[in-house]
Amino acid sequence: MKVVAINSSPMMDMGNTALILNPFLEGMRNAGAEVELYYTKKLEIKPCQGEFNCWFKTPGKCFQKDDMQMLDPKMRSADILVFATPIYCDGATGPLKNLMDRTVQQVQPFFELRDDHCRHPLREDTKASKVVLVSNCGLWEMDNFDPLIMHMKAYCRNGANEFAGALLRPHGPALKPMMEMGVPLNDIFEAAKEAGRQLVEDGKMSIETLNIVSRELLPREKYIQIVNQHFQQELDALEKK
Ligand SMILES: Cc1cc2nc3c(=O)[nH]c(=O)nc-3n(C[C@H](O)[C@H](O)[C@H](O)COP(=O)(O)O)c2cc1C
Repeated sequence: MKVVAINSSPMMDMGNTALILNPFLEGMRNAGAEVELYYTKKLEIKPCQGEFNCWFKTPGKCFQKDDMQMLDPKMRSADILVFATPIYCDGATGPLKNLMDRTVQQVQPFFELRDDHCRHPLREDTKASKVVLVSNCGLWEMDNFDPLIMHMKAYCRNGANEFAGALLRPHGPALKPMMEMGVPLNDIFEAAKEAGRQLVEDGKMSIETLNIVSRELLPREKYIQIVNQHFQQELDALEKK
């Protein structure tokens, strides 16, 4: 089973997104999947120029010469695609959106009716993949992921991919300080790993497992208090310089 994962956090492995993504990928590897992980920060992926060359001049191929030439065939043959992103302004990071726009070359220009809705058929060399979202956000509530989940589901429906679920970590920036304080969080990382195993071995992830990944780390009022205190200290230190 081939898995292509994209981590679009500019913090790469030092970021909060990686804290959930990496054990998830480990769970998939342990279950026998062949996993390739890419970081958008290390790739050059230019924005789509909107010329539709990939539909009408060189069908299936974008005219831009960059790292999408390497990534595109890997994505087309993947059984599972993992899009990992922190929430930026209520959505995916810019580099991940750029990458998603460039996958327009993987669908045909034609419209067809699927589920009573206009959609694009995938090109013949493009597998219908399962798509998993891995995301974390700074605000406390789970509903901060709603716009991105809606976007990912729509993206999957348009391209005939299957949205297989999401590993979501609200108040993600609390993870590292809590780990440093010795607060037990291993259940969260183990659940991320287990979700990876489930997806490869059972073809789906259980709601119970995904709920552990998202579980509350600390009460909202406490989080607001700690965050504001920390930000105030940062600003006070700046004034002293
Ligand atoms: C430009 C920018 C925009 C952000 N917008 C949001 C937002 O809309 N909602 C939110 O909950 N967090 C937002 N955040 C916070 C990040 O999602 C959060 O810090 C996350 O843990 C970063 O993940 P990373 O360490 O993997 O990069 C934003 C951060 C940045 C830098």
